[in-house]
Amino acid sequence: MPNRDSFEIRKEAEDLTRQLTLDEKIGMIHGAELFRTASVERLGIPALTMSDGPMGVRQDFEPASWKCVGNHDDYVTYLPCNSALAATWNRELARLTGEVLGAEARGRGKDVILGPGMNIKRSPLCGRNFEYFSEDPFLTKEMAVPYIQGVQKWDVAACAKHFAANNQETQRLWVDVKIDEKALREIYLPAFYDAVKKGNSYTIMGAYNKIYKEHCCQSDFLLNRILRKEWGYEGVVISDWGGVHDTEAAANSELDIEMSVTDNFDEYYMADPLKKMVEDGNIPEKVIDEKVIRILMLMKRLHMLDGERKRGAYNTPEHRQAALDVARESVVLLKNAKGRLPLSPQQTKEILVIGENADLFHALGGGSAEIKALYEITPLMGIKMLLGGNAKVTYLKGYCQDPKEENQDRNWQADSLENGGGEIECVNQADGPLTLHRRLLREEAVMKAKEFEQVIFIGGLNHEQDCEGNDRADMKLPYEQDQLIEELLEANPNTVVVMTGGSPVEMGRWIDRADSVVWSWYGGMEGGRALAEALFGRTNPSGKLPESFYKTHMDCSAHAWGNFGEKETADYAEGVFVGYRYLETYHVEPEFCFGHGLSYTSFGYESAELTEEDGKMYVECQIANTGGMDGKETVQVYLAPKKRMEGEPARQLKGFEKVFLKSDEKRKLRIEIEDYSENQDVWVGSSLKDLRMRAEMKVSGK
Ligand code: BGC
Repeated sequence: MPNRDSFEIRKEAEDLTRQLTLDEKIGMIHGAELFRTASVERLGIPALTMSDGPMGVRQDFEPASWKCVGNHDDYVTYLPCNSALAATWNRELARLTGEVLGAEARGRGKDVILGPGMNIKRSPLCGRNFEYFSEDPFLTKEMAVPYIQGVQKWDVAACAKHFAANNQETQRLWVDVKIDEKALREIYLPAFYDAVKKGNSYTIMGAYNKIYKEHCCQSDFLLNRILRKEWGYEGVVISDWGGVHDTEAAANSELDIEMSVTDNFDEYYMADPLKKMVEDGNIPEKVIDEKVIRILMLMKRLHMLDGERKRGAYNTPEHRQAALDVARESVVLLKNAKGRLPLSPQQTKEILVIGENADLFHALGGGSAEIKALYEITPLMGIKMLLGGNAKVTYLKGYCQDPKEENQDRNWQADSLENGGGEIECVNQADGPLTLHRRLLREEAVMKAKEFEQVIFIGGLNHEQDCEGNDRADMKLPYEQDQLIEELLEANPNTVVVMTGGSPVEMGRWIDRADSVVWSWYGGMEGGRALAEALFGRTNPSGKLPESFYKTHMDCSAHAWGNFGEKETADYAEGVFVGYRYLETYHVEPEFCFGHGLSYTSFGYESAELTEEDGKMYVECQIANTGGMDGKETVQVYLAPKKRMEGEPARQLKGFEKVFLKSDEKRKLRIEIEDYSENQDVWVGSSLKDLRMRAEMKVSGK
């Protein structure tokens, strides 16, 4: 609900709007440059300047072309991607990430940062999954809300995107999402609801796709009915770049700003064509006024119209420390069968590192989330830095990606909306010479692996697969890595396997033979250091999977029941059974379950009781660090219906808390749970498949 503050701000914005001409108002509601609206100098109204998001502040482009300005003043802090952040299960790190982003955006003179990306990971194949948090609405919102608050602390607006159900890249501009409203409201909307209600996100970005046959950026259902009327949203709705398709629908849909990718700014739907419709009396001018009022209210909230705006900063040591803190907690130890990890830095005299991802920069890839990083520590560099010259580190590539078709005259984003804006990318289709080249790399690596006691393979995906505008065709590892890993494990069973990526890959061909497997995401500028620290025990891994790691994509409900990657209609026939909700209810085994992540220490769960206070439900439990190393545990709370009704998932995450415990330390935790009812059992555990206790109602007097 609007508060007293917003009534006052609104009044001032209305007064200012009355002084504006139609031309000036139209200038404020569409892009006058690729990332800016027009200013009204005579009244001291500045342009609204935006930038991507979400892993840092993007480099600067020419005003009217996708040509990078190319100066050296726009290198920035490169933060771990949102999937990495979600894997920390640490709300404070989400807030810190937001604060870094807000401060850097302000430091670079931006008003709106186009993030967080917070769509639900419906399928592991979506190319933009790395920009998103989780398959679970609860975890998504618990990360998104502090992130948004962190950004906005700096007088910069967050932009929760992409509203809503933007879950595939294939034909992203035209695909119509067919979904029942229950699933939409239970899975795809809750995080946006909290972004608005709790995070108070000053702006929201409409999605490219359609929902119920309407484009989201001009959808009466989504923008008018749900966002404005039901949720009372009074912030600014910005279109995705090129997401508007009709002047009248956009004007009437409560969209406030139209942005796009082309330089014909006056021809945008909400530019000259809208002005004409107003002049012809087809659209009342008050429709435009309302948008302008909301934009002016935003400017007031950001102190753009008075002189008290916060001063930002970028590339500070504190920001780099924050990137490292997040990266450290994002590393997930998937498997450590014989306790092979951590490796000992003291005893390591020689080590062989294999895999292109050990030595690859990821920052400047992935689409609009690209980052011009001040630096990026690769895993190989991280390992060498940690060993400090006291061990001989040998590196071999082992595999290589496909050579890039470089075309310097074409920009990815300028072309991004052609052919509906996205496609399925088929990898693993190498032809003769490349296959031969990879065979030589593989043979060399396998041969060498026999000679070493310690071998680390670092492979997985890169931004050729985890990329805007692409979906993967399946979850198979690209570049013939499966064969390489199989042969490496044969040659040297001690090989530690590290996978990088924003979404799971098939591991079935080798997972049983690999003793130690580590998952690292796009971990930002300090990612390589964080990974090395985890491998060598300088930190104790505490990341937990924010999504199910399926055995194959066909085990995911979007593929088993619904459809995905289709051109016209994406049928969300799986309803609410997204991710683990499907796996748990229909007994499908994942490779690694939601919430999974091992530690070098162990945790004991000693008691769990339900308590109620001020109408809120809590689980109180006692957790003990029972292993020999300090570490962090994420205690997860799942609700399970005592008697499951049709259409109801078997388990749902409804609470969690991350706790640091010194070796042998015990701690009592109190975890708030959402949506509890007496018809549900409350399970507490270390992952979805490692539930340790059922919480019983506390008997009074105890
Ligand atoms: C993406 C948005 C991004 C915008 C501006 C679009 O292609 O979908 O997420 O913020 O471009 O770069």
